[in-house]
Amino acid sequence: MSSRQINPPPRLLMGPGPINADPRVLRAMSAQLVGQYDPAMTGYMNEVMELYRGVFKTSNEATFLVDGTSRAGIEAALISLIEPGSKVLVPIFGRFGHLLKEIAVRAGADVAVREKTWGQVFTPEEIEQAILEERPTLLALVQGDTSTTMNQPLADIGEICQRHDVLFYTDVTASLAGNEFSADAWKIDAVTAGLQKCLGGPSGSAPITLSERAVEVIRSRRHVEEGIADGTAGRGTRIASNYFDLAMIMDYWGPQRLNHHTEATSMLYGARECARLLLDEGVEAAVARHDLHGRAMLAGVQGLGLQVFGDIAHKMNNVVAVEIPAGIDGDAARTAMLQDYGIEIGTSFGPLHGKVWRIGTMGYNARKDAVMLTLAALEQVLRAGGAEARPGGGTGAAAEIYQSPQNGGQPEEHDQPAHSQVVSP
Ligand SMILES: Cc1ncc(COP(=O)(O)O)c(C=O)c1O
Repeated sequence: MSSRQINPPPRLLMGPGPINADPRVLRAMSAQLVGQYDPAMTGYMNEVMELYRGVFKTSNEATFLVDGTSRAGIEAALISLIEPGSKVLVPIFGRFGHLLKEIAVRAGADVAVREKTWGQVFTPEEIEQAILEERPTLLALVQGDTSTTMNQPLADIGEICQRHDVLFYTDVTASLAGNEFSADAWKIDAVTAGLQKCLGGPSGSAPITLSERAVEVIRSRRHVEEGIADGTAGRGTRIASNYFDLAMIMDYWGPQRLNHHTEATSMLYGARECARLLLDEGVEAAVARHDLHGRAMLAGVQGLGLQVFGDIAHKMNNVVAVEIPAGIDGDAARTAMLQDYGIEIGTSFGPLHGKVWRIGTMGYNARKDAVMLTLAALEQVLRAGGAEARPGGGTGAAAEIYQSPQNGGQPEEHDQPAHSQVVSP
């Protein structure tokens, strides 16, 4: 065998996710495996359920992990909640709204959409009007859409849905832990996420929470796998996917411990550590940290003379879309950032492709040194490409944000300084 042990190049991941995992998460993931029904393992599963109730701000019993990347969570929620032929409303304001629509169509729904120009969000009145026109059984709406950086306000939507007897599903993959979110206070029935953004982990596990109303709908379609039948009769239309059948996955995570897949143990260790990190810091403190470093990055790119895309008042804290200046080759600049500085910034999709870069400040990388390094490197890359960038304009503007008395005059502390992943003895 000629291949060598894996040794990825050192990178600072400042795109829209994934970002560098927190070293604590990586250490947790290297722990030894235990058997699926070892009391240690079922104990960890129960702990994960409780930890994610804190992360999602919910008392929902049905709070657990779907194994797979964030879209596994989306697919599990939609395929389990949607009865073929039922009406689903998807308000779309970016790429991931289109994804919800596609998955709902594949699940056999009669899908109605409303669309916003990229860079805008919906008002609650617009959503209510669409509900009145379409009379859906389910509303599927993204919170933070990384493709446009917009953060759709959700606080008033749940109440509207309850008033019209509509189930409310949201995808918070990109926004959770970096922006305000509260599943119970906002009356949301089904929420799915991922680890690779503000939670500071790798992709591969999709935390989910389901209200009692959602659980009831899913349990009305419960069928036990033939080979492990427990004598109970199946109910309702069978959920079209085995892997994403939330009725079966709930039986596995619940007290029955009815076997389904083999839980992805190392991912569970990682997901558990992501939640512990967040709850140790405090959800509000983590959101405030993302707000601070996001504002510093925003001021920094504006200080470099760059234009910011979209409605800034509705931008997620953790990512900014920057218009590529005329005369600059966007891909060549990203390559220079990577090759000369080891920093990754993001490209973009669909109507924004070739027009904006997306720069993230999230999870482990929502830190002052990461913001300053990225702005310093970007200034050099812009200048090398022939753009006018005021010397020190980016780092200077960011420094002003950090020094403002309103931010305590100093940066947020992080217990692991950048690039020194030194483990104390
Ligand atoms: C809002 C949103 N939803 C879903 C996804 C898909 O996540 P994954 O690639 O983990 O399946 C992403 C990824 O960027 C996202 O930002």
